[in-house]
Amino acid sequence: MAVLDDRMAAELLAAARKAAGVAYAPYSGFAVGAAALTLDGTVITGCNVENASYPMTMCAERVAVGTALAAGHRALQAIAVSTPAAPGGTPCGACRQVLNEFVPRGGTLTVVLEGADGPEQVPLSSLLPRSFGPADLDRARESEASGDRERPDRL
Ligand code: THU
Repeated sequence: MAVLDDRMAAELLAAARKAAGVAYAPYSGFAVGAAALTLDGTVITGCNVENASYPMTMCAERVAVGTALAAGHRALQAIAVSTPAAPGGTPCGACRQVLNEFVPRGGTLTVVLEGADGPEQVPLSSLLPRSFGPADLDRARESEASGDRERPDRL
């Protein structure tokens, strides 16, 4: 399901591929680039940043998301991901969850992947079905405010 026009999808994927070129991945040798498209059309890139303490590694997608947030953006239309060593790589589970936080209200977040025939657009919701996100917490707050929340027994 294509949401971005072909030119925009290609441009976003090209930015992601370029970002992969500056990946800091001396341990895995697996470069990843990401390019986020904000609601106002700004493109913000990220690359993976590894660490000698392996679990400290930051994924390209989360670097792009954090950079976008730090620039004041609060939702994303799309994010492109490039994995030049093995084209077609998709965001890891943790990144899918982080991306889910920044889906536009009432809208969708499109993930642009390196398909065999060029940019492939997939909705985040198809990569993270039945997700848990901000709306779940909103619902809990609403039911608490209206007093219809079941009270757990005292422990
Ligand atoms: N990586 C990402 O940057 N994004 C993903 O969604 C999957 C994995 C990075 C982390 C690590 O630096 C390398 O790819 C190998 O896992």
